[in-house]
Amino acid sequence: MTAMPDAPSAHDILKLNDLGGYTVPTRGLYPFQWNWDAAITALGWMAAGDEARAWREVERLLEGQWDNGMVPHIVFHGDAETYFPGPEVWGVQRSPSTSAISQPPVLASVMKILFEEGRDRTLAEQKLAATLPAVIDYHLWFYRERDPEGTGRVCSYHPWESGMDNSPQWDGPLAGVPAVDAEYVRRDTGLVDPSERPHKYEYDRYIYLVKFFQQNDHDAKVLYRDCPYRVEDISLISILHRGTRDLVTLCEEDAASLDLVNAHGEALFSLKQSLARTEEGVQALWSEELGCFLSRDARANVLLEHVTTAGILPLFAGLPNDTQAKQMGSLVADWLAQAPYGVASTHPESTRFEPKRYWRGPSWLHINWMLAIGCEDHGLTQEAAQIKQASKDCIAAAGYWEYFNSVTGEGCGGRDFSWTAAMDLYWLNPLDIFTANKAQDSAVEVS
Ligand code: DGY
Repeated sequence: MTAMPDAPSAHDILKLNDLGGYTVPTRGLYPFQWNWDAAITALGWMAAGDEARAWREVERLLEGQWDNGMVPHIVFHGDAETYFPGPEVWGVQRSPSTSAISQPPVLASVMKILFEEGRDRTLAEQKLAATLPAVIDYHLWFYRERDPEGTGRVCSYHPWESGMDNSPQWDGPLAGVPAVDAEYVRRDTGLVDPSERPHKYEYDRYIYLVKFFQQNDHDAKVLYRDCPYRVEDISLISILHRGTRDLVTLCEEDAASLDLVNAHGEALFSLKQSLARTEEGVQALWSEELGCFLSRDARANVLLEHVTTAGILPLFAGLPNDTQAKQMGSLVADWLAQAPYGVASTHPESTRFEPKRYWRGPSWLHINWMLAIGCEDHGLTQEAAQIKQASKDCIAAAGYWEYFNSVTGEGCGGRDFSWTAAMDLYWLNPLDIFTANKAQDSAVEVS
């Protein structure tokens, strides 16, 4: 469904952004393949009826996987002049070149959906068997390198790694990072209204960190010890936890016939231990006073007291107990009452709330999708329905933008955006053919 009469459809947007097996988030502003964008976009391809293309998106993302298991946040498949920092700034010597950090691994949860909801069973089985080992390695990498002390709380080394770049959560930890001392030219502010993007102050520190990783040869031990930014990021922890649970279910139940349990027994054992550690460790991040979870600055040893969507993402991971889930449910209702266009990335009552500046207040539909799933899983069906309606209202108000002003519904950031189109196709307004297929499935299950 599109709001504007002559605007491209959601499927048109995916085709427009398709550069040959991978989909750019939007032309110009983000001209490469991004990790969590690719995962969400794969759902759109499947919902548009092209399952093979959905799996191709996953395969192309995995072309960027490092030998240690990390799947980077950007895979530089081609050349482009419109993005900074490009491959020459990251300085990663491999082909295809990549960034040197990761992003929230929603990929495993998406693969579970592609596998469970795919109509072509032969394709689904073949593609799952081919890609699953790489994704298992990816999750093992996260726990091994980002939680070497076994706290149950993986950490991030860069605000970009959370995907929530300029969230108020990172203001404190970023203040401990020096500014880069070299000149550079940003491209984003020439393509998008600068009032919708992070400030130069933040970029100076983002780029310092990029250089820091390179200067330290991406050495896991050195980075854990010395990186000036080390944050236990509650959104990363939650999305990883849900993904790991989904991986285990895929291996043990959904695709048991592929004999994945035997093939990956040891890895599954280790992943289950990590799940147990997180279930316990995450409770250290709960704030009774604020009624949500918080991230933690692991260097300064302080909880980051900001109410953001990151803090309610544990719902998506099944991490809160019943009382905590109820408290978060009431928080969501109040949140939407104050800024009705999607759950705003930062709570509207925060003194740092800016409804159109990137992660300081706009709403993002893929996050709303995860929150709706989380609410549903915890029996918060009314809240889940409210989130879905508020997300539909964003698209009805403005079309397929990167994110939305959570107070007015105005579209912000990049236009013709892949993950917003994908969320519309898969979640908000699925094509009749897709819903008919799903309805048929449930009829078969009931009969
Ligand atoms: C950007 O460049 O804005 C991205 O969020 C970094 O991944």
